[in-house]
Amino acid sequence: MKPKKIKEGVFWTGAVDWDRRLFDALIPLPDGTSYNAYLICGTEKTALLDTVDPSMTAVLMSHLEDVKSIDFIVSHHAEQDHSGALPIVLDKYKNAKVVTSPKGKPMLIEHLHIQDDRIITVNDGETLSLGNKTLEFIHAPWVHWPETMFTYLREDKILFTCDLFGSHLAASDIFYHEYWKVCEASKRYYAEVMMPFRTTIQKHLERIKKYEVSMIAPSHGPVHKDPKCIVGSHQEWVSDNVSNTVVIPYVTMHGSTQVMVDYLAEILSDNGVQVEKFNLSVADTGKFVMALVDAATLVIASPTVLSGAHPVVVSAVFLTNALKPKLKFTSIIGSYGWGGRMVEQITGMLSGLKVEILAPVVVKGQPVKKDFEALETLASEITNKHKENKIYRI
Ligand code: FEO
Repeated sequence: MKPKKIKEGVFWTGAVDWDRRLFDALIPLPDGTSYNAYLICGTEKTALLDTVDPSMTAVLMSHLEDVKSIDFIVSHHAEQDHSGALPIVLDKYKNAKVVTSPKGKPMLIEHLHIQDDRIITVNDGETLSLGNKTLEFIHAPWVHWPETMFTYLREDKILFTCDLFGSHLAASDIFYHEYWKVCEASKRYYAEVMMPFRTTIQKHLERIKKYEVSMIAPSHGPVHKDPKCIVGSHQEWVSDNVSNTVVIPYVTMHGSTQVMVDYLAEILSDNGVQVEKFNLSVADTGKFVMALVDAATLVIASPTVLSGAHPVVVSAVFLTNALKPKLKFTSIIGSYGWGGRMVEQITGMLSGLKVEILAPVVVKGQPVKKDFEALETLASEITNKHKENKIYRI
């Protein structure tokens, strides 16, 4: 995609990565991604906001081919998918200074070996004039790292938010208008990247209310011409509201755990509780964590392998604990052949969640009548907990 004018004197100069399928060697990217950089040309100075992933440096440099001078390169975030091309850009524009937060400076030096004297730091609320355009810097720690910040372009009312409000979505149009698809990609992105910072984002959303914003330009995915939609979605995701939903990630080896999962899911459904099942052996991790954004309850289902939970379940539990979804209740179901400490192992891995743990149901071999009754009891308990807590929304 060629550079795109998004407002007078403001250009998208990023790179679309249609083929990338994994981020952080962990996160599936079914729709690719983009690394958005923006060039702002004032009457006196020129600023580049962020760069691109190192793998896409050539694309960025081709966009800058006719740009004679850059005075400032704003680095909102030191993570390499935005800062990775900095050394090459600095090499071309010998007088350019990197503008970043005080916490960003040491990170850029450590991660990219940027020279100390090429970096200037800006405080929260500080401004930088480009002539007829003014950049206001807003410190926004922990979206996604401690050094992250936003830039508000005052005259054009554009808020550049780097990772926040982003989506892993490759598109040929920077103003991609299939909103349902943007919303789905944004939710996947929020779940995988931003969910651990939910309470911090609540505060940032409050802070940006004082700005009149006509456009939000994140560093991944489409630019939002109607900020109300994306901001509204985030307000809902970071709120304390949960839905009348039970998420069941599971693995089955010889079918016993599958029978239990299906039985529990059926009763919950009959009780009016929505169920989202994820067979982790084949499930898209992104879909699983998206379901965790709103769900009230998580039921982890695992067979016992040797003395503990199935390793694939262990991985999903570890990820869930790290992402800190706003779950209210959890339980564990599963099976074993001769013994083991599967329940103790899983509960020991959930220290990051503020959840009430409901009595697990673990059976030896194939479930029998008393085991199905125990699952019915668990389903009733979950249903009642949802009702007692007025969790009706699906
Ligand atoms: Fe898109 Fe935290 O980097």
